[in-house]
Amino acid sequence: MTQPRIIIAIDGHSSCGKSTIAKAVAARFGYVFIDSGAMYRAVTLFALRHNLIENGIVKERELIGLLPEIKIEFRFNSEKQKSDTYLNGENVEDEIRQLPVSQNVSPVATIAEVRAEMVRQQQEMGKNKGIVMDGRDIGTVVFPEAELKLFVTASPEIRAQRRFDELTAKGETVSYDEILQNVLERDHIDSTRETSPLRKAEDALVLDNSNMTREEQLKWVVEKVEEKIH
Ligand code: CDP
Repeated sequence: MTQPRIIIAIDGHSSCGKSTIAKAVAARFGYVFIDSGAMYRAVTLFALRHNLIENGIVKERELIGLLPEIKIEFRFNSEKQKSDTYLNGENVEDEIRQLPVSQNVSPVATIAEVRAEMVRQQQEMGKNKGIVMDGRDIGTVVFPEAELKLFVTASPEIRAQRRFDELTAKGETVSYDEILQNVLERDHIDSTRETSPLRKAEDALVLDNSNMTREEQLKWVVEKVEEKIH
């Protein structure tokens, strides 16, 4: 008998390793991994390129008017063994991770019409199931019927330390205190915004990975998936 394919929704705070877990689980079960944050980043890049953001203020009306012109796709890059994000046919994977986008994505992600369009595209991607999607509102808004929902978290200090280590390893000189402030600030913005704030779905399982290795986390999640598909 073939195993049923399910939808796995992974939500949680910034910098807690959601996408690392999501990618590993997707690879393990041969599922598609979708990074929903990359989609908000791609819209932000589009807005920046069209001069629709000035000093952190988004020209909402113009951006909403142009939403029908924004098509986001993920295409598998066999060289890197991972998916790249495409904006209207152009590979923007690297550019959406850079500072100008990171600094402006929060206000873009609060616009209700932007969210409605992204949710529509995300639901379309999930229609054949066999998908792992990570974000902030996947279990609550995008796939409220997902068979498995996880809410990932870790203490702010540990998340800040991980981010500090990551950036230091890349050769960047950064301050731990500033990173911690940024983590706390983003938690606040994500949890208190009006449209689709970050919150745990009632039926989500909490994964606090403060003191877990990647292997331990993967094992924990794989067990939960197997309970659902057997
Ligand atoms: O770097 P980090 O993992 O925190 O961010 P990301 O997953 O790349 O998401 C970028 C931005 O999009 C964040 O500011 C999130 O608040 C927002 N986002 C969202 O509003 N809804 C989602 N489903 C995913 C991301």
